[in-house]
Amino acid sequence: MNDLEIIVSLCKRRGFIFPGSEIYGGLANSWDYGPLGHLLKQNIKKAWWKFFVQERGDMVPMDSTVIMNPKVWEASGHLENFADQLVECKECHRRFRADHLLEAKSLEPKYDKEKPSDITELVCPDCSGKLTPPKTFNLMFKTFLGTTEDKTTTAYLRPETAGGMFVNFKNIQQSTRKKLPFGIAQIGKCFRNEITPGNFIFRTREFEIAEFEYFIKPDEWESVFEMWVSEIKKWWHEIMQVNPDNLVWHEIEKDDLAHYSKRTIDVEYKYPFGVKELHGIAYRTDFDLARHQKVSGEDLSYTDPETGEKYIPHVVEPSFGIDRMLLVALFEAYNEEDAPTAEEGETEKRVVMKFPAYLAPYQVAVLPLSKKEELSELSNSIACELRKEFMVDYDETQSIGKRYRRQDEIGTPFCVTVDFDSLKDGKVTVRDRDTMKQERINKDDLLKYFKDKINY
Ligand code: GAP
Repeated sequence: MNDLEIIVSLCKRRGFIFPGSEIYGGLANSWDYGPLGHLLKQNIKKAWWKFFVQERGDMVPMDSTVIMNPKVWEASGHLENFADQLVECKECHRRFRADHLLEAKSLEPKYDKEKPSDITELVCPDCSGKLTPPKTFNLMFKTFLGTTEDKTTTAYLRPETAGGMFVNFKNIQQSTRKKLPFGIAQIGKCFRNEITPGNFIFRTREFEIAEFEYFIKPDEWESVFEMWVSEIKKWWHEIMQVNPDNLVWHEIEKDDLAHYSKRTIDVEYKYPFGVKELHGIAYRTDFDLARHQKVSGEDLSYTDPETGEKYIPHVVEPSFGIDRMLLVALFEAYNEEDAPTAEEGETEKRVVMKFPAYLAPYQVAVLPLSKKEELSELSNSIACELRKEFMVDYDETQSIGKRYRRQDEIGTPFCVTVDFDSLKDGKVTVRDRDTMKQERINKDDLLKYFKDKINY
């Protein structure tokens, strides 16, 4: 198995992520988050929210609709430009993104309308059949509002959350009385009719984005951009605890920048299937607010309360795919190690997911050494107390060794073992996932002990 297959298999076996609609034969490239995947995702979102919103005084949250007035997507340019170049094999009729085929052959990955000959040099990667000329394919998911299906009822599922923050800029600025610079953040589901989804949860048609629009005075963009790069480095290194060697900070070259951007960094990750985008940081000038002002006819300018200066704010936009962050958390956490068995001098392989404790699906597992009633009673009361603060798993089946291995494989940072001595001295054994060291702790001190070790 390659590294991706190992992760996909662990995710299914342990209840992180299942193939979508599996009992009906699945739905290609759709994935359902099971109990552990859901918890991991919640914890990533919670940490992201705490780091980028809660701990700062200059950010406010929002939650906008998935289906918005289609004018939003006209103004943002999505209806016209949010498209990929699609080619189809004339033999097997599989469809591909032209830029992906070019990239795989180390040719210039951008499909160039001026040089379409590039693509005619390629053949179908599956059956070597000839390819059709590229055609533009818009990625917006279309739907209809109400009972009739025509142009007047056409609407779209949002492809990003950004639109909701731009169209609410005025409402939010006026209701919160925030002064520039300040940001609006949101996390939510987005939909793109990708031509070639794949690589597990890396590219899907339904996914979550966490992003913010940070509104600034035009002449402050360079220092603000640097400030966010430095904060985002902290996020990856200190909070997500990703090995810095696995990240690539790809400064987009001037010629490749979107027409409205003066600086963009694609933060890439060394996935087992190649170095690919994890998320982006873009300086978008005043493009978005200016377009929405033009198309809506609403004044979206800001008046500086000190100087009286009136202008359309500029924006720095860091945008993160939640599912890609989760995929990276899985790759970073995965470890195989030799661990001692109960037999003197013997070792066995253990798989251990070394998530940061606050990201782990369960932070604590309570494991009574026997199913006897007196131990169950004490163990359950300890689990109940700890559940006030943490997600706690409870397992009294199989040998203690097997139970430790299971908790290692789902990444639980601490196991609490309750034994017959616990009934006499009120102490329990706490085992650390990473060091496998054990210490006796008074049961009444557990909540504080874990609060100190786990909370971010
Ligand atoms: N508002 C900016 C924006 O939407 P983007 O690079 O198109 O930028 C943001 O998307 C992030 O969303 C990406 O960096 C990636 O992490 C994630 N993402 C984009 N398309 C995705 C897909 N099909 N499946 C999973 N995640 C995706």
